[in-house]
Amino acid sequence: MIFKETKIFKISDSFPTKEDIEKLKEAADIIKAGGTVCFPTETVYGLGANALDAEAVKEIFVAKGRPQDNPLIIHLDEIENAEKYCLYKENPYINKLIKFFPGPLTAILKKRDVVPCIVTANLDSVGVRIPENPIAHEFLRLCGVPVAAPSANISGKPSPTCADHVIEDLFGKVDAIIYAGNCDVGLESTIVSLVKDPPILLRPGGITYEMLCDALCEVAVSDAVLSEMKPDDKASAPGMKYKHYAPKTPVFLVMGNDKKVIDFLKDKQTGESCAILAFTEDLKYLESKNVFDIGSKSNPDENAKRIFAHLRATDSICGLLNVYVHISDDKSGLRLAVFNRLLKASAYHIITLED
Ligand code: TXA
Ligand code: MG
Repeated sequence: MIFKETKIFKISDSFPTKEDIEKLKEAADIIKAGGTVCFPTETVYGLGANALDAEAVKEIFVAKGRPQDNPLIIHLDEIENAEKYCLYKENPYINKLIKFFPGPLTAILKKRDVVPCIVTANLDSVGVRIPENPIAHEFLRLCGVPVAAPSANISGKPSPTCADHVIEDLFGKVDAIIYAGNCDVGLESTIVSLVKDPPILLRPGGITYEMLCDALCEVAVSDAVLSEMKPDDKASAPGMKYKHYAPKTPVFLVMGNDKKVIDFLKDKQTGESCAILAFTEDLKYLESKNVFDIGSKSNPDENAKRIFAHLRATDSICGLLNVYVHISDDKSGLRLAVFNRLLKASAYHIITLED
């Protein structure tokens, strides 16, 4: 692959200053000229290109090493602009979800011909997302075209929740990186397919299953959310059959009553070289070496914000045999999304400690 001169556009903490807007204009010009630009959103950083330019979109797949049969979602500044790219107005469900836009939600809708096949991997539907992050919003407004963007990581690795993760994975492979702060949610958007009856949750995220049920009455849950897809499964969630979010070291999820889990983890710490992702409440029982704090058990927002960064950080520890992650039994609200990502990161390896 050809090495690219990657421009870094550092955005100030007091966004939007005049200089910030100038930088976003320059980044938007790169998109309009067919280049690739990584940008922050409230979920994770994205790797964007003009969705209407098939050649530009090809560069996304090359930079990430992403299989071409895994479709991309498109990002717009306003939901009102969606009608140009998909059958938005005639969809029977979308009106009930309007209150979640902008926000961490991707709606799958019937696509229009103007969206090239490479974006949707030949599907007749397209994912539409309107980010809430003000930098993303202004950048997309300045682009004036829909921006196709997967998460800005090398395929298979944990998604990037800060700009340094993007630099680590994609510096020299993209034309520019908009360097801003940490992502608020820390997990990718909820994906709901509205081309099915009833609508189906393909990937849980910041807009929770409960919130969707409240708005839509009935929502099915794709098998891909909690179980493993076989490589030849004809998945309604095409991306789900691939390896995801995995650090180099094997990950195991550990569940059971707190005392049992803590004893198990203490035992592992004395017996082998391992890393542990633990709840704040349990840190006092563990040796601090290679232990990562995922936040309080009672605070799934915090857990969501931290897991990808911690999984990624284990990659820089030498000689690790295993990574253990304490998980909650509770799967309500945002915990479902946390559990879903950890399931994929661990390739479905769960250790259940019986009472
Ligand atoms: O929060 C997010 O959604 C981030 C930020 C950058 O917006 N983007 C993101 O994109 O997570 P990506 O490509 O990493 O994940 C999108 C998922 C993939 O698993 C893909 O298979 C699925 O959406 N997808 C895309 N188009 C689809 C379609 N038409 N039908 C079903 N699934 C689709
Ligand atoms: Mg991704």
